[in-house]
Amino acid sequence: MKFETPAGQNPIDQLKVVGRSTDRIDGKYKTTGTAPYAYERHDVVPNQAYGYVLGAGIAKGRLRGMDVAAAWKAPGVLAVLTTLDIPKLGLGKMNTANLFGGAEVQHYHQAIAVVVAETFEQARAASFLIRPDYAPEDGRFDLAAEARSAKPVGADSAEGSGGGPEDRVGDFEGAFAAAAVKLDETYTTPDETHAMLEPHATIAAWQGDRLTLWTSNQMIAWSKGSVAKILGIPPENVRVDSPYIGGGFGAKLFVRADAVIAALAAKAARRPVKLALTRPLIANNTTHRPATIQRIRIGATRDGTITAIAHESTSGNLPEGRPETAVDQTKLLYAGANRLTAMRLARLDLPEGNAMRAPGEAPGLMALEVAMDEMAERLGLDPVAFRVKNDTQVDPGHPERRFSHRDLVGCLRLGAERFGWARRSAKPGQVRDGQWLVGLGVAAGFRNNLLTKSAARVRLDGRGILTVETDMTDIGTGSYTIIAQTVAEMMGVSLDQVVVRLGDSDFPASAGSGGQWGANNATAGVYAACVKLREAVAQRLGVNSADAAFADGEVRAGNRGTPLAQAAAAGELVAEDGIEYGDIAKSHQQSTFAGHFVEVGVDVDTAEVRVRRMLAVCAAGRILNPKSARSQVIGGMTMGVGSALMEELAVDKKRGFFVNHDLATYEVPVHADIPHQEVIFLDEVDPMSSPMKAKGVGELGICGVGAALANAVYNATGVRVRDYPITLDKLL
Ligand code: MOS
Repeated sequence: MKFETPAGQNPIDQLKVVGRSTDRIDGKYKTTGTAPYAYERHDVVPNQAYGYVLGAGIAKGRLRGMDVAAAWKAPGVLAVLTTLDIPKLGLGKMNTANLFGGAEVQHYHQAIAVVVAETFEQARAASFLIRPDYAPEDGRFDLAAEARSAKPVGADSAEGSGGGPEDRVGDFEGAFAAAAVKLDETYTTPDETHAMLEPHATIAAWQGDRLTLWTSNQMIAWSKGSVAKILGIPPENVRVDSPYIGGGFGAKLFVRADAVIAALAAKAARRPVKLALTRPLIANNTTHRPATIQRIRIGATRDGTITAIAHESTSGNLPEGRPETAVDQTKLLYAGANRLTAMRLARLDLPEGNAMRAPGEAPGLMALEVAMDEMAERLGLDPVAFRVKNDTQVDPGHPERRFSHRDLVGCLRLGAERFGWARRSAKPGQVRDGQWLVGLGVAAGFRNNLLTKSAARVRLDGRGILTVETDMTDIGTGSYTIIAQTVAEMMGVSLDQVVVRLGDSDFPASAGSGGQWGANNATAGVYAACVKLREAVAQRLGVNSADAAFADGEVRAGNRGTPLAQAAAAGELVAEDGIEYGDIAKSHQQSTFAGHFVEVGVDVDTAEVRVRRMLAVCAAGRILNPKSARSQVIGGMTMGVGSALMEELAVDKKRGFFVNHDLATYEVPVHADIPHQEVIFLDEVDPMSSPMKAKGVGELGICGVGAALANAVYNATGVRVRDYPITLDKLL
């Protein structure tokens, strides 16, 4: 189905099921431990052996050789495969560093060997007997030092808005020089790791030339293609299955070493192989959110009209790696006639930098929205009023492109009212509550809404059960539930009549889970398949599909009602279709918006920061399931607290690795850190986004939170910290 804009009235608009708070279908399986995660799929194939991956002990260099004799002789060992046994393999989609094969070591903990044994313990013990002989080389590990030699770079990330190394509108330098009030500050954000609970894990089995991977992956179609490319086999010989995922956050957008090495190890051992990347391996073996150095300049008239805005970001990556697209939102968030955005990329020999929840905007807003707070103060304006004053309804760089729907102002105003913003002291360091200095902070949230094709298949059987199949994934976001809601609404049945099957590459290819594009696009694909099924049902029942209403398990036409199941009495009905978009994303800018508000207390003696209250007001089109959407936003807000106050991969700048590579030493918020969160969704629909009139919300939740918190800390203390995370040593 080709999406025609704007979407007219359609069965989703009934909102009998869609738009209602609904418990997650997979919730009971996940909370009772019965949802089988990749590593726990004991029953999919018999005779599973265990693999254990060994990571490189140097950050850069070559392997001269590896002594594996002792490992081969260890108890239970079935195979030992080293990276020297096979040639360097190709790269999959979005892979920067080689996953296995060849003598070159590109980063610390890059996989160099795998041991297969009867038990996990035997494989692990044998791996410790492998003696690698390294020829180490010097590497570059310090972003600040390498920033000087960083090169201009454009964006080609799967999630960024694209653009060249430098985008200019008007005359930034002239307007900035002439501005009455100005700011020129630099902000830094550290490397971060996804810290999803379920590690990367795969069970691999070969049947002749055919490979099946039971794995944990956000993007099934991408990964099927990548596995085929990396291993040099036809895509039709690869099946990827990932029905339950214990978090991804971008770490599982693409194929990683677990999938590739499990496949190679299974071939070597002639047995199905089960393999997980252990927690201490993940931070350095897989991807992370790259650190940034961001310079922001804003110039304005005395009344607070922005006349010049520039955002330049430097990040680092391995050769061939991509930049962190931290300047993207600055092209679109505020008005201003003269603009400059630019990215530079430094070469680093640290592990691969790549997408982590809201790549680009998450760290970009941590800088931009603090700069806006600083600018408001210099102008003597309220930070909410300053943002409202500089709102835009068009893409400032291309004024003929309007936003499909934009209500940032509504988010900020409603948020200010609900949060009690009027009680904020404009002067920092004024409010005391016992031992605590109290402050309020605000920031805008912004994240794009990407449109991408998505397909599904729907079956109706003789009992009236509808089964929907798509390779869409549920990374904890609630895909199962919103897809079931979509089918129920379209076919006029209750949720318990719908069975959802996800994550299998044998199913029609969906949008997948990334860049908060999953919810809107995957349900729109299911909508398209249901439209087709409705036509097939109508034809079977001999009614005109335009006149047929699907409700209460019946198909009604004229004054006749027929049970839906009757259409399948003579045999199952199957319909397959997908949604495809034309030029809508070019003619209209599609984005989501939020107003984030945070109250903190800062201990007057120790400078410990405690969050007291958080509020997010979100404008993200139709909210398909308010309950799971809220969960997504509070998860994002919580992650935003982590990025503002605690998360940081500590770089060993001499030896070139992330030192705190486990959950004991990589700090993330726990329940006690998050006392009170509130989420409000503006009641809106966006008919330009899809027949669902919905948008993404899963990444919006993290966008802007860190800055709101940083601004609250400043309001509490009068100390402006521009280097995240805001740990107490920086406040004393
Ligand atoms: Mo997201 S970083 O596209 O999983």
